[in-house]
Amino acid sequence: MVIQWYPGHMAKAKKEVIAQLKPVDIVFELVDARLPFSSRNPMLDEIINNKPSLLILNKVDMADKAITKKWLAFFQEQNKKCVLINSKDDKTIATVVREAQLILEPKLSKLRAKGVNPRSLRAMVVGIPNVGKSTFINRFAKKNIAKTGNTPGVTKAQQWIKLNSMIDLLDTPGILWPKFNDPEIGYKLALSGAIKDTILDLEAVAYFGLTILANMYPTLLAKHYQLTSPLGSTESVFMEIGKAKGFFAKDGAVDLERTVSKVINEFRNLQIGTISLEMPTNINLTSNAGDPNENNSTT
Ligand code: G4P
Repeated sequence: MVIQWYPGHMAKAKKEVIAQLKPVDIVFELVDARLPFSSRNPMLDEIINNKPSLLILNKVDMADKAITKKWLAFFQEQNKKCVLINSKDDKTIATVVREAQLILEPKLSKLRAKGVNPRSLRAMVVGIPNVGKSTFINRFAKKNIAKTGNTPGVTKAQQWIKLNSMIDLLDTPGILWPKFNDPEIGYKLALSGAIKDTILDLEAVAYFGLTILANMYPTLLAKHYQLTSPLGSTESVFMEIGKAKGFFAKDGAVDLERTVSKVINEFRNLQIGTISLEMPTNINLTSNAGDPNENNSTT
């Protein structure tokens, strides 16, 4: 799904999510485990405004296990409640319910102490496009219900899905915009598939992917593409890969377009391996990049 994000749309999305959050007791913030910083909405903390929240690193099956462990430690150090899941796997999504129950327990016991029979507590999923919000919700709903409501500004009748005897989940996710102001973040989002390919400079995205391999996974770069770091120029690198793969146009020249698209697909289809795109170093979680009043971008 592609969403055009302009300041007006971002301000509207923010307003909508704030309204949706009113009856909600806990926010499930979904991010992509391969890029937990870059796939966070920059204003989420402000939007959820101290409501209890659980950070969910989704697509953990696609990420580098060792780096994911570092991210988990990083968030725990910041006292952020965090779980790792693969939304396609029922066993892992069960951890979300357990963790939510723990986070909400103080609220529940307060109500019980007052002699109030607590109503079910309410959860809602929030995140940027493509992090897996619909997949996550549909897993709990046991059917495809979330897709229809997964567009900002398109309202549908909202329903609550029972997660357990005490927690209900809103069947419509809150959709927010990604960070825009740093080109590197844009490349990471593009590699992860969060940005529509037709609006991208695919050669630059593929080359960025190769620089990630050169910096973080030199062995994979050598094994998969027979390249060593530091990388050569964009053109020489794709010529080399194209030649090795036998991608030639009719005139005998290397088919660069096919080569570039192959590299991007190999990243996205995990053919190179499970690769994370960022590490928890030099990360400022409170960075406010992407303020709707400041930016004008498209995903
Ligand atoms: P969104 O609502 O946040 O926009 O994301 P959505 O659920 O549509 O998921 C985006 C893509 O990510 C989908 O792939 C979905 O299958 C995949 N996905 C979501 N969660 C996980 C996960 O934990 N692990 C893995 N491996 N993939 C996940 P798609 O190719 O766009 O669609 P489909 O062909 O799978 O339906």
